[in-house]
Amino acid sequence: MRKAPRPSSRLAGFYRRPLAERVAIVERLADGTLLSEDSRGWLVGGGGLDLDHADRMSENVVATVGLPMGLALNVRVNGADHLVPMAVEEPSVVAAASNAARLVRLGGGFHGDADLPVMTCQVQLDDVPDAASAPARIAGRAGAILAAGDAAIPRMVARGGGCREVECNVLDAAAGIVVVLIHVDVGDAMGANLVDAVAEAAAPVVHDVLGGRIGLRILTNLSLRRKARVWCELPADVLGGDPLADGIARASRFASLDPLRAATHNKGVMNGIDAAAVALGQDWRAIEAGAHAYAALGGYRPLATWTRTGSGLRGELELPMAVGIVGGGTRSPGARAALELVAVSSARELAVVLAAVGLASNLAALRALAGEGIQRGHMKLHERRLDPLPVPVPVPVPLPEGGPR
Ligand code: MEV
Repeated sequence: MRKAPRPSSRLAGFYRRPLAERVAIVERLADGTLLSEDSRGWLVGGGGLDLDHADRMSENVVATVGLPMGLALNVRVNGADHLVPMAVEEPSVVAAASNAARLVRLGGGFHGDADLPVMTCQVQLDDVPDAASAPARIAGRAGAILAAGDAAIPRMVARGGGCREVECNVLDAAAGIVVVLIHVDVGDAMGANLVDAVAEAAAPVVHDVLGGRIGLRILTNLSLRRKARVWCELPADVLGGDPLADGIARASRFASLDPLRAATHNKGVMNGIDAAAVALGQDWRAIEAGAHAYAALGGYRPLATWTRTGSGLRGELELPMAVGIVGGGTRSPGARAALELVAVSSARELAVVLAAVGLASNLAALRALAGEGIQRGHMKLHERRLDPLPVPVPVPVPLPEGGPR
């Protein structure tokens, strides 16, 4: 990751400037050093994804689809400012996150931390004889299992990552269904491919130890060892007074009592996280899967909670956050530019920033819902959509000889 002076995320009046001026402001951030030359070119050229890149990223490519990318402003986490790129089609998500982050900033900003970047894979075995003794047998051969896993990811091991721990759970002793979990430090990568490689390489050793039949060998997206957590405290007057602070705390309580409300409450959290994850080239489906599986442990509940303090409100959010700053989708030109803008130096730092944007989005939604209602602000921003833009005229593409195949 490039090291550039970190710009302030407080760009007053940014939203009122015409788009071309906003681009010029971003180009000049940190005296023009925040973005690399490639990323400046990408930004000035209107962003997007050229067809050559698209063709290498996926299969049967015939076109690309576009999303607007905006910047969530005012985000301050652990005393450091971050401009957070967000790609989303829903109006008001970027404005709401920026606005809530501005209020949180007045209360000192977000605070947070993330676990070590440990991903977990599972090796399933069926028909294991004497399944009850499987955990003890696996513990006795843990070194060999970890070594087989490490051998599959030598470059990650050379960078200081690698297999750390083995666990074994008996899922059905009578049927001999056992799962072996391997926890792997994946450094600054999201790590799905790395842990899948570990699972496949370690499975024969696991099989030697336990017998039975090998089943699936794959990561779990419920990455319980890779959680991020953020919290913030705001005085009630910053939020708009005690009645509004009370209303937000009551809305949080409602979500903790009712899964129907918790689902919508969590959708508000994920509005911010998903939009930033898309802009930053992350596997947002993995983040979604982890978030909702985590919310459902012990009964579906809100991921973020708000409680009254003596003078205001405290918000907290914790969820699994499997994100990376190298590899995978982060290689696209847009994701590279977005990562330069958010200016994080590790996957762990990115995890905390994404969680902060999630908490900001949730606060914005609850503040609107507990106050004037969601429709007024939402509809103001929706109105911009009502004037349809002209539909571009398609340019005919010559078909290959012999017609379409
Ligand atoms: C809309 O995208 C998100 C909200 O429904 C979230 C919530 O109800 O907390 C406003």
